Amino acid sequence: MADGGAMLVVAIDGPAGSGKSTVARRLAETLGLEYLDTGAMYRAVTFAVLARGVEPDNHDVVAELAEASKIELAADGTVLVDGVDATTEIRSAEVSRCVSEVANNQRVRRELVSQQREWARLRGGGVLEGRDIGSVVYPDADLKVYLTANAEVRARRRAMETIEVSEESVARDLARRDAYDSQRENDPLRQADDAVTVDTSHMTIDEVVAHLAGLVPPGSGQVEQSGQ
Ligand code: DC
Repeated sequence: MADGGAMLVVAIDGPAGSGKSTVARRLAETLGLEYLDTGAMYRAVTFAVLARGVEPDNHDVVAELAEASKIELAADGTVLVDGVDATTEIRSAEVSRCVSEVANNQRVRRELVSQQREWARLRGGGVLEGRDIGSVVYPDADLKVYLTANAEVRARRRAMETIEVSEESVARDLARRDAYDSQRENDPLRQADDAVTVDTSHMTIDEVVAHLAGLVPPGSGQVEQSGQ
């Protein structure tokens, strides 16, 4: 799509285990858009950091790695970091433990936010999912959603995605990460003022997707590319 054209952008934010990834993927299919898991990008940088034996709190080296690494997210969920398939490794307990520190690095955020805007620009829009999409990446998104679910439901969902650890340990890691992500200095997880909140605790995926598809404003696709 040419610069300056209009595009349809849906922003989905919320804490881990709120159902964001599944819902965003399915909503994108329904709307005929592509889907971007921005958390996978922070995880991919964390994978690169750990693979090189760099300490996650070594801010300058971590930022340089983020700027130099080539992260590719395929539509089927495959994640390549500098050509290496890291699809499984980015979900490991070690990456999960260290990713918050990497995501609190302002230079890493600047680099990834710029890649996320470029991703959407090249596709004429999309469904982007993360923590700061409606507040920072696309404050003018056509639809901004804040997904949530109660802590028990979120821990159960995350435990089902992770094979190596117990539900208790997932719950502990989630609580620690949510607290850190919400209180961190740089672009903390927060609900954009004009985001629609949807509590998914007692909803099926189909119900959430149908609800969100119905919220896309008619005639949307008005996010101007210039200035983003
Ligand atoms: O969604 P997830 O759990 O895979 O995200 C991994 C980490 O990345 C999470 O701790 C928060 C961070 N993150 C972020 O800071 N900003 C985003 N847009 C997406 C994820």
